[in-house]
Amino acid sequence: MKGRQGFWARLRRPIRALAPMEDVTDTVFRRVVASTFPPDVYFTEFVSCDGLCSAGHDAVAHRLDYTEEERPIVAQIWGTSPERFYRAAGMIRALGFDGIDINMGCPVKKIVRNGACAALIDDPPLAAELVDAAREGAAPLPVSVKTRIGFREKKTEEWAAFLLDLQPALLTVHGRTARDMSDVPADWNEVRKVVELRNAMGSRTIILGNGDVVENRQLEEFPSRYGVDGVMVGRGVFHDLFIFRRSDSGDPSPPFADLPSCEKLSLYRRHIALHREAWGNEKNFNVVKKFAKTYVSGFSGAAKLRTELMEACGYEEMLTILASAASEQSAIN
Ligand SMILES: Cc1cc2nc3c(=O)[nH]c(=O)nc-3n(C[C@H](O)[C@H](O)[C@H](O)COP(=O)(O)O)c2cc1C
Repeated sequence: MKGRQGFWARLRRPIRALAPMEDVTDTVFRRVVASTFPPDVYFTEFVSCDGLCSAGHDAVAHRLDYTEEERPIVAQIWGTSPERFYRAAGMIRALGFDGIDINMGCPVKKIVRNGACAALIDDPPLAAELVDAAREGAAPLPVSVKTRIGFREKKTEEWAAFLLDLQPALLTVHGRTARDMSDVPADWNEVRKVVELRNAMGSRTIILGNGDVVENRQLEEFPSRYGVDGVMVGRGVFHDLFIFRRSDSGDPSPPFADLPSCEKLSLYRRHIALHREAWGNEKNFNVVKKFAKTYVSGFSGAAKLRTELMEACGYEEMLTILASAASEQSAIN
């Protein structure tokens, strides 16, 4: 059904969402975040509908692994075939997800060359077909769209009006064009235009703004400044793993940077151990090194420790290095 909002309608406002991030927001990272200061909603990494509907199914299906701690959880899909969107949406519904999100924002060349993701901004008829197909396959789950404000040039209002007419449950607006990649600051005034348009159209679509939210206080400030119903945080979670902490509940917790170093290292160990348990040899273990800067920063000896970790050859070696660093640090702390 068009416009069905499902769980989105029940979330408190302003909504705080953890962005989908390839090779970052898998079930392991989402669980780490859930165990500290959880957002209101999680997204999977983007999942190819072609992959899901082909012999290569198993190679992408792990992206749909999740646990109950990560609810509400939305599966993000991408592709160009309405028929595969329909089938993939059915699979995702059967897996118990809370919603489905369609990627219309990824600017990666080899993807947009084939007409998928951000390329859909210049192909509205196909974008509409994909939304319809996902909605049909996913029913009664709510279907949302994540997009940018143009492909080469900004065409925020034209594109947003088209999408809003399709009545997605929710629209996430990343305030950059595809050509911008991540090289220029996100333009939140363009995000505001989408909200104004939504209001003028009398549309019920919920709007999240996305781009460059790096501080906890912006989770409250941006909704009141730009009118969005909530904010989606991507890289900001690397700057502050505790970015979703709530101050309105009198929460005394400091940003992650203020934690004693041994506690930072202990959380990194937990992350790595979870990764080993969840993925074993299935995923390249080096992925966990991406998080070194997040956990191993802001104390004396951090840079040297990160170099040691980068040279580690497996989970065990990383865990051992971190255990001995943590005991040194706890003597200091
Ligand atoms: C490592 C990485 C992977 C990403 N993967 C996805 C993805 O799978 N799906 C998606 O819609 N956006 C993806 N993005 C884009 C983010 O969701 C977000 O829109 C972008 O980073 C801007 O928000 P930020 O400034 O809060 O990071 C990715 C971004 C990064 C940095």
